[in-house]
Amino acid sequence: MINRNDILKAVKEIVGNHLDKKLIIAGNWKMNMTISEGKKFLTEMEETVSANTILIFPPYTVLAALSTDFNKQNIHYGPQNFHYKKEGAYTGEISIPMIKELGCDYALVGHSERRTYYNETDEEINKKAHAGVKSGLNIIICIGENLTQRQSGEWKAILKEQIKKDLAEITWDMFSGISIAYEPIWAIGTGVSASSEEVKETHAYIKEVLKDAFGRTVRLLYGGSVNEKNALEIGSIENVDGFLIGGASLKPDVFKRIIDQVS
Ligand code: PGA
Repeated sequence: MINRNDILKAVKEIVGNHLDKKLIIAGNWKMNMTISEGKKFLTEMEETVSANTILIFPPYTVLAALSTDFNKQNIHYGPQNFHYKKEGAYTGEISIPMIKELGCDYALVGHSERRTYYNETDEEINKKAHAGVKSGLNIIICIGENLTQRQSGEWKAILKEQIKKDLAEITWDMFSGISIAYEPIWAIGTGVSASSEEVKETHAYIKEVLKDAFGRTVRLLYGGSVNEKNALEIGSIENVDGFLIGGASLKPDVFKRIIDQVS
């Protein structure tokens, strides 16, 4: 029986041990990592060299504690969420000036966990997209359907709706600051990623919707159980411009192996 490592080796031989495109490889730490754990992680990442763009979205405390080290490594940092207003009476929120002061140049917007647990709407996500891009942040907007919507075939309509609402009134010149992460909710944290065929079909569809609606596309990341076993295969798929990685970004050796595989 042919094992997975042999297949990966063969793929690497064919593609010359690297993918012929520059990817964004983003780690979403969610509510994980204390400051000391975050520092340890980054010490172990120190030697990472990659032509790809490496991002980490840690909790705010880690973000602040690590800000002085931002420029020491080839890694960009950003928050997992932010408020679209500059300041005010919004208990528990954080604003763009606060995160920009730390040196952040990327931010995550509209993750499905924020949509599900904190009732974040497409309208709010759209406000964050406008505020983020206007302030010079590179934002990654997450979209994705749930299992019922995938199985019923509704997923195309759901994704189209999210794209239109999340990017409403975004003008051509603002597009360079935007990336989208397609994250099927049923693949997040389940250990079962979308199949290569599903990723291929869905990414092609999303790019087509963007082209039709706005006349141009954006970088399109895939997220949902990306790990060291499937990263090379998913990264090789047409229209996949990077990954948003949860669980597998929490261990420096695993995250590094993913980066190495596709670099
Ligand atoms: P996962 O999470 O890689 O653990 O599935 C992805 C995400 O939620 O961004």
